[in-house]
Amino acid sequence: MSSRAPDKHLRQLADGNQIPQLGLGVWQIPNGPMCVKAVRWALELGYRHIDTAQAYGNEESVGRALKESGVPRDEVFITTKFWPGSRDPVAEAERSLERLGIDFVDLYLIHWPQGGPTWAWPGMEQARANGYTRSIGVSNFDVRELDEVIATAAVAPVVDQVQFSPFEYRRKLLDGAGERAIAVEAYSPLGTGRHLGNRAVQRLAARVGRTPAQVLLRWCVQQNTIVIPKSTHRDRIEENSRIFDFTLSAEDMAELDALDETGATDRALEEKWW
Ligand SMILES: NC(=O)c1ccc[n+]([C@@H]2O[C@H](COP(=O)([O-])OP(=O)(O)OC[C@H]3O[C@@H](n4cnc5c(N)ncnc54)[C@H](OP(=O)(O)O)[C@@H]3O)[C@@H](O)[C@H]2O)c1
Repeated sequence: MSSRAPDKHLRQLADGNQIPQLGLGVWQIPNGPMCVKAVRWALELGYRHIDTAQAYGNEESVGRALKESGVPRDEVFITTKFWPGSRDPVAEAERSLERLGIDFVDLYLIHWPQGGPTWAWPGMEQARANGYTRSIGVSNFDVRELDEVIATAAVAPVVDQVQFSPFEYRRKLLDGAGERAIAVEAYSPLGTGRHLGNRAVQRLAARVGRTPAQVLLRWCVQQNTIVIPKSTHRDRIEENSRIFDFTLSAEDMAELDALDETGATDRALEEKWW
């Protein structure tokens, strides 16, 4: 099995830290061999960014894969997320680090604004002050919720991770985050798989000589978001990483933009799950 050179496509966050623009997401991969394999393949294939969460239950496998890969810790960007059903982001960060087997994560996010957008933020700042994480941010926050956090924060969030794809374009959220120096991370960029079968996406992919997944991921890159597709298949993990060697034209981008079903919303979610 060949390995590939490390991915060097980095984006600077507002706090000065750098994040690889492509990461492997591991939601819904059970803790155990399947998760270890997926993360090891990604690292072999040049990925340097893994996105996990306390709620995913697989931090242990992410940590094991990182260790087994032999890739130095400081070359890999690790994100985990505070599960807001518990109360203490500091204590939960300590537990995450124990499960991951590392001394710090690169990014710690509030997974969703359960109980309101601001209550957990002081704990997130404390986790950062303790050295448990380099950067802090949020996930599933609307522009209005970002403003509430910023109004009370000593250290502002540098990331908002939201559902984002041509079908969930959320243009006002992307613009609003940008105006606040908050980078958008695109989750479910393939629609958890369901956008891959869309006829318009398939037609465009055939026209540009790429796969539907590559076209959807490249659209996220050209929207200046960070993108974290999930797969448990080596060939797909590789396919999803080949998105920096082609460009979608302005016309291709406009065609994909037009698939938006959110009405260019500034909201992170159409329906809340908590
Ligand atoms: N913050 C949040 O609340 C939140 C919510 C959702 C997701 N996320 C993050 O975002 C990541 C990605 O989102 P997601 O897991 O919803 O799904 P996704 O990346 O949009 O799509 C993953 C699905 O597409 C399939 N797939 C991947 N690459 C493919 C390819 N090249 N060809 C054909 N099929 C392909 C995968 O199947 P196989 O695995 O079988 O290959 C899987 O079923 C998550 O893993 C997680 O890290 C965060």
